[in-house]
Amino acid sequence: MPIGSITRGTTGTNRLRRVDRWIAQLPAFRRATDPLVVDLGYGASATTTLELHQRLGRVRPKVEVVGLEIDPARVKLAAISARPGVRFTLGGFEVPLPGGRSATIIRALNVLRQYRESEVFAAWYHMVSRLEPGGVLVEGTCNEVGSVASWVDVAADGPRTLTVSLRLADLERPSIVAERLPKVLIHRNVPGERVHEFLLDLDRHWQLNASLSAYGPSQRWIATAKGLVEAGWPVQAGRSRWKLGELTVDWAAVAPRGFAW
Ligand SMILES: C[S@@+](CC[C@H](N)C(=O)[O-])C[C@H]1O[C@@H](n2cnc3c(N)ncnc32)[C@H](O)[C@@H]1O
Repeated sequence: MPIGSITRGTTGTNRLRRVDRWIAQLPAFRRATDPLVVDLGYGASATTTLELHQRLGRVRPKVEVVGLEIDPARVKLAAISARPGVRFTLGGFEVPLPGGRSATIIRALNVLRQYRESEVFAAWYHMVSRLEPGGVLVEGTCNEVGSVASWVDVAADGPRTLTVSLRLADLERPSIVAERLPKVLIHRNVPGERVHEFLLDLDRHWQLNASLSAYGPSQRWIATAKGLVEAGWPVQAGRSRWKLGELTVDWAAVAPRGFAW
């Protein structure tokens, strides 16, 4: 029996573009000998799996992508969209792969959102155990159109970072992402929790740099990221990522109180 439960299948074209773009630059993906990427819980249509294959194929043309779904009806429907390098399979958090192969990357977006917080770690452990050495689980949430997104990357030694990725045009407050945090953090945006402090500071620096909007929202976001670095937040350096509306911070700086791997 696949591990997990069938949940709502909501998905959409281009919804996961921000996370696809981030995965495409991951060293674990770029340097893999034979990259095998799993799109776990692709939902009611094959769309996000096909898009993932297309985007990653620009970097590694021979990438193989497996769409994995726990709902047999959704697998049957998606299977007609299979093509060289893309196939669709029934499965859950145990991540069944042909020949017992391990995955380079497992992406699970908008899957754990519909589970309980207490179920997150078991799901992470299952998925991480199916990664090849150096592989990465990318688990997170986004809004319907993908303009507000966040995810955690988890390796064999535990979670590494939290990434926030936002469409900057017309952005009022970056803490809008609070509604779309990964399940492990979404209930932790409360006083006393580090992710709450982080979002407060993110908003504060965004406001402090409001005048830079005249040069475009990317300049304002870059200044916001620099402000957070100066304030001591372990934000990963990278103007080239910041200008896209991304910001990646070390997991330890936002982990729930009492978190242990
Ligand atoms: C909201 S949809 C997300 C679709 C797509 N990933 C997206 O972000 O647009 C969640 C899907 O995950 C599937 N799902 C839930 N638990 C799963 C599990 N343990 N293994 C595989 N699929 C699962 C559900 O059946 C549902 O189709």
